[in-house]
Amino acid sequence: MSHAEDHEGTRRDFLYYATAGAGAVTAGAAIWPLVNQMNPSADVQALSSIRVDVSGIAPGTQLTVKWLGKPVFIRRRTDKEIEAARSVDVEALPDPIARNANIDANAPAEDANRTLDEAGEWLVEMGVCTHLGCVPIGDGAGDFGGWFCPCHGSHYDSAGRIRKGPAPENLPVPLAEFVDDTTIKLG
Ligand code: FES
Repeated sequence: MSHAEDHEGTRRDFLYYATAGAGAVTAGAAIWPLVNQMNPSADVQALSSIRVDVSGIAPGTQLTVKWLGKPVFIRRRTDKEIEAARSVDVEALPDPIARNANIDANAPAEDANRTLDEAGEWLVEMGVCTHLGCVPIGDGAGDFGGWFCPCHGSHYDSAGRIRKGPAPENLPVPLAEFVDDTTIKLG
């Protein structure tokens, strides 16, 4: 092999590798977002705690967000809903336990033990029927002005407590807190 051929061969190899290298970079850039989305630890990290901007929720409406793969209802209650929820005899409830992850597990299901703030304006609860897991309909649905699960007819009141139907428990209140005036952190 002459010196010139040797040199030519080296140059070709260089071009070949440079092209392959550029191809690899392009493929890498295209694949990265998919890999990143599929990465389980990043996924869990992103979902285990989320912050929700609640500034756009008007009284008498709710926002449904997905958290840990399940719907969470964030409701801003009206005075009427608060009043109705607070005038209930807790002893007479089908499930007299608050089911609120933020307080003592055996606390009674008084309305004040279910809401996020003392005034009772904000109610955060899992949007999963405690019977077989359907997503109840909100906005004052059902016989008790709260939520209604059409799957088998469970009625929840405006504090998310089961009042009638096959569901055995109140809608659970997840770990939640206000981190500023307009942001609720779940988890
Ligand atoms: S799943 Fe809601 S009533 Fe059965």
